[in-house]
Amino acid sequence: MTSLVRGSQLGRMLGQWHALPGRRRSPDYVALAGAVRGLLADGRLPLGVRLPAERELAEALRVSRTTVTAAYRELRESGHLNSRRGAGSWTTLPGGHRVASSGLWTPQDDLDMIDLGCAALAAPAELASAARAAAEDLPRYLGGAGYHPTGIVELRTAVARAYTERGLATSPEQIMVTNGVQHALDLVLRLALPTGGSVLVESPTYPNALAALAARRARIATHGLATEGTGWDADLLLGSLRQTRPRLAYLIPEFQNPTGHLMPAELRERVVATAHASGTDLVVDESFVDLVLDGTEMPPPTAVFDRHSRVVTIGGMSKPYWGGLRIGWIRASAPQVQRLAAARVGVDMAGPVLDQLVAVRLLADAETIVSARRAELTAQRDALLAALRAELPNWRVRTPAGGVTLWAELDGPIASALARAAEEAGVRLAPGPRFGLDGTLERFLRLPFTLPAAELTEAVRRIAAVRYDIDRVERPHWREPVVIA
Ligand SMILES: Cc1ncc(COP(=O)(O)O)c(C=O)c1O
Repeated sequence: MTSLVRGSQLGRMLGQWHALPGRRRSPDYVALAGAVRGLLADGRLPLGVRLPAERELAEALRVSRTTVTAAYRELRESGHLNSRRGAGSWTTLPGGHRVASSGLWTPQDDLDMIDLGCAALAAPAELASAARAAAEDLPRYLGGAGYHPTGIVELRTAVARAYTERGLATSPEQIMVTNGVQHALDLVLRLALPTGGSVLVESPTYPNALAALAARRARIATHGLATEGTGWDADLLLGSLRQTRPRLAYLIPEFQNPTGHLMPAELRERVVATAHASGTDLVVDESFVDLVLDGTEMPPPTAVFDRHSRVVTIGGMSKPYWGGLRIGWIRASAPQVQRLAAARVGVDMAGPVLDQLVAVRLLADAETIVSARRAELTAQRDALLAALRAELPNWRVRTPAGGVTLWAELDGPIASALARAAEEAGVRLAPGPRFGLDGTLERFLRLPFTLPAAELTEAVRRIAAVRYDIDRVERPHWREPVVIA
């Protein structure tokens, strides 16, 4: 699945390539090759895309064709470009690495460790009382067999009402309750993606989504998110959909995991229209939609723009409430929900009734619980940002308007080395390459603000200490990406 980057698009991504920090008197072609390598290492320029013809790029960058020819030669020699005469040049990595992501992302039970690998909050205080109240509700269900493949109607009604309140009219027949969002994604993929089907995902993205796609042997293409601005490049994203016409696209428009980006309304509308035109189904993961901070105004749900049942929305209670509850859902058309329920019977029959009753109780108290979560997350985010500014001032971090993660741009391609060193110092980290497909993203680290402020501050102190140790041991330079098998 190759797509083409046009000269003007690459020019925009390259930005001020001729004035990059650290550049002294190197010739233009060396700087240009270095800047393209930087885009590849950051995952903004995906692997396997065709670069513009030399003449086209020269015109877009207003440099001589000789400069571009020499830069492409340099990139071929360093193993970042494959060229075939008459056919063009494709991006690649030295050694032809393509790294399989196991996607395994489970926190381990090590109490001495500050776990910044897992982006999830502890349960809210209201959970225990909701569980007690649910136990009292349970006798209403005990007279039946207890199998509800689409979920108990009370919960489907509460979830549908929440969508309707967000401006997306929804009936309980359009909701199917699942055992968490991951389960929802897996079910949707079983139904919508044939084995080996093509999928477009953001890069970076949520590792366990990559694992679910790997289980379907999906052919995955990526859309590289920028760290600055709104993250998505409308031109490139819509261009990829039109060119590659993937079977399915998986997007996280609200406080994207890991970058924290929020997709603007206008792009949502264009993505839905383009997906329809290119025959692509959209799976929209709204895991973080409730966790808006700073009073930020929310764009409408992506499915608002859907006129053709192209959008399947998945969401759940793990992030705003508690991961241990294992409640998620799918919002789709009523016939799609029926098909999903039929597929589900072959997987796990139905979800636990008691847990769904706990969810109903919690949703009845949503306003109080979620606003307390937002206050908690705001304070923790600000403590983490302050600690980073004080201890690691060279790192670049954007303040996200919601969600639970910061996506830090480090002062070198050191994320995996740093994660290994931090583990020794009692901090578990999620290095950038875990969120990509091909071992790139070494200059990035995801930092969740889901732990109490004092723990976050202590974690940053430990990370800063080992950061400078790494400098003493090894000079960061371009290195082959670490293989995660
Ligand atoms: C974007 C995204 N989708 C899905 C999940 C999985 O959610 P659940 O625990 O409800 O299965 C997560 C959890 O981190 C997530 O960040």
